[in-house]
Amino acid sequence: MRALVEMIDKLASPYLKGLIPYNPGRPVEEVEREPGVRGVVKLASNENPLGPSPLAVKAIQAALLGINRYPDGGGFSLKWALAEQLDLEPEHFILGNGSCEIIDLSARCFLGPQDEGIIADPAFMVYRRATKATGARLVLVPLKEHRHDLAEMARRITNRTKMIFIGNPNNPTGTCVEPREIDAFLDWVPEEVIVLFDEAYYEYMPEELKPDLLGYVRRGRLVLVLRTFSKIHGLASLRVGYGMAPPPLVQLLDRARQPFNVNGLAQVAAVAALGDSDHLAASRLLNEAGKIQLYQQFQDLGLSFVPTAANFILVDVGKDANEVAEALMKKGVMIHPMARYGLRTHLRVTIGTREENDRFIQALLDTLGGS
Ligand SMILES: Cc1ncc(COP(=O)(O)O)c(C=O)c1O
Repeated sequence: MRALVEMIDKLASPYLKGLIPYNPGRPVEEVEREPGVRGVVKLASNENPLGPSPLAVKAIQAALLGINRYPDGGGFSLKWALAEQLDLEPEHFILGNGSCEIIDLSARCFLGPQDEGIIADPAFMVYRRATKATGARLVLVPLKEHRHDLAEMARRITNRTKMIFIGNPNNPTGTCVEPREIDAFLDWVPEEVIVLFDEAYYEYMPEELKPDLLGYVRRGRLVLVLRTFSKIHGLASLRVGYGMAPPPLVQLLDRARQPFNVNGLAQVAAVAALGDSDHLAASRLLNEAGKIQLYQQFQDLGLSFVPTAANFILVDVGKDANEVAEALMKKGVMIHPMARYGLRTHLRVTIGTREENDRFIQALLDTLGGS
């Protein structure tokens, strides 16, 4: 066995050295197999607590008997629906097996061992992993007061910089940069550097914080704007996300992707979810109410937190976050500790339903009071 491990290590791409598998967290079913743990509340992966769009569920049911066929490899209907809603052309869209696939695809298409990718720290781990796997040099720029330090990111650009990754809102802080800061940043950045804006939580953002990135796409600027059906639309398990960019950039990504990367049920569900304005509105309302509820509770407990523009909150519990998360899990509440992101005493909690938030707060009270 050991010999085999050594042989695999020798055969593997050198860029994979030091990469460890992404930690997706444990599934609810597994946690419920622990003795004494029942009725688990999962607030660990920024999913929609309302569930999927009902229209999407209906669309899947209607399409089920067609799963013997390959899906539309070009995503025709979904691209048209997106184009109509976002005032773009279908040629502006690349579809992905979740937006994570497009992060990976873009790094693979543009980065190599001679290049540099600039990423904030902490930010969504997938940017780092995708960059590292290409052999490119990671340039990490610490957040400033929990927000992207765009001025410093711009200063770190060299003639090797090919890509810059910006999560807006950022995961795990939930913070955004303001539209005028983005405009100033793009004025600074050389036109041949690709800026990837990850807007996975776009639909939760306050209107005044939403930048007009699609304007840049329309004008042919090299930006790649990512959104997903995994968050507010409630379709995380189906794996469907999309990117928007000038058509030549999309065409390059298309050359490198798998032919049927987005399955047929995901495509019909995504089209239906896009038109489900009731589900969207209800999801936003629930999130706003949960946000107020949790802010209040954190203030009452004297815990500092980062105000969020998304559906999760970064909170400092003042104690080892791994231990607190473990204790919460034993009480049936799954939360993501942020120690791996360098935030030793922080938890990232997804905003749940009123009852789920109550369960979390009660378990947190018991844990912090009891330790
Ligand atoms: C910032 C950010 N981008 C992308 C994703 C993943 O989205 P998808 O499910 O579309 O791959 C997440 C999921 O947690 C995220 O937090």
